Amino acid sequence: MLLLCLESSCDETSAAVVRGGREVLSNVIASQVDVHARYGGVVPELASRKHLEALPVVVAEALEKAGVDIGAIEGLAVTRGPGLVGALLVGLAAAKALAFARGIPWVGVHHIEGHALAIQLEREVAYPFVSLIVSGGHTHLYRVDGVGRYRTLGRTLDDAAGEAYDKVAKLLGLGYPGGAVMDRLAAEGDPAAIVFPRPLLHQDNLDFSFSGIKTAVLNYVNRQKTTIEGQHLKDLAAGFQRAAVEVLTAKALRALDATGMQRLVVAGGVACNRGLRQSLQQAAAERGVEVYFPSPLLCTDNAAMLGVAAQDYLQRGYASPLDLNALASWPLDRAGDDFSRDL
Ligand code: KG4
Ligand code: ZN
Repeated sequence: MLLLCLESSCDETSAAVVRGGREVLSNVIASQVDVHARYGGVVPELASRKHLEALPVVVAEALEKAGVDIGAIEGLAVTRGPGLVGALLVGLAAAKALAFARGIPWVGVHHIEGHALAIQLEREVAYPFVSLIVSGGHTHLYRVDGVGRYRTLGRTLDDAAGEAYDKVAKLLGLGYPGGAVMDRLAAEGDPAAIVFPRPLLHQDNLDFSFSGIKTAVLNYVNRQKTTIEGQHLKDLAAGFQRAAVEVLTAKALRALDATGMQRLVVAGGVACNRGLRQSLQQAAAERGVEVYFPSPLLCTDNAAMLGVAAQDYLQRGYASPLDLNALASWPLDRAGDDFSRDL
């Protein structure tokens, strides 16, 4: 099927045209990051308004880039949740309107399901696998048995990894969002110069905690008598990154052990992190397991990632009803509930 996919759960407005749940014909992303940067985080009401403005433009551009007319679109996919409810409603209303007007089926997809399956747009990874989702809103380990079949193995008990990156970057005056800047600085720093704690590293579970690392950085910064800059700043970034990456790597490997699985798929914005990629690739090579990272554009929020699950659901004859609502919170384990009944 030729699908038009829409994503508007946070601060990125995105539209994509995907064929057969695998071939990305276009994937247009309009970021609102400049709008929110001055507030140091996403302002929900502003996000909704910006989505409303951007969506028609982004949809037109996605169709144009794909070289297809709206009349050729056979189905729609849209993020139903989790996310900012006002932002989600913009995408959902657009999908419903287009589906109704054109008489085509549509399906509301789980945002994290999109992240977890995005890799399939670039290379086929056989099920089952362990998925590590690391973004600004999530740090979760899931078992993925197939489209619509997910089980939570572990999660952060407080901040998400990306959130910790952003908060540390903010307190160092590096702007928002700060993950990518921290990553660049860390590459030039000495990770052993300043050592931060590794919360829950030695606890026999698959959960994470990042607020402790962030507080340790805050305390360190408050103890300094001069501004942290130059090599000192790079060393601090490297120390923070080493602590975060070590915990993420250890828990991801533990999840593979606990499930007896051989494949790990990493996704979400923090999956762009070079330190994390290096650490997981090295650990995977040593253990003889496989680790997959989508390319950066498919790691961060984008609409194309919804096409994988949507194609499967629509092909199996499932379409969402027009009274379907957005869900601000929605556990991934429940994502396939509507679709797993006999159709
Ligand atoms: O998946 P995403 O685009 O949005 C959601 O949160 O759903 O992820 C954004 C997050 C931000 O916290 C950002 O700072 C972080 O991903 N991020 C990074 C890197 N690139 C983006 N964190 C660490 N290293 C990076 N290279
Ligand atoms: Zn996301």
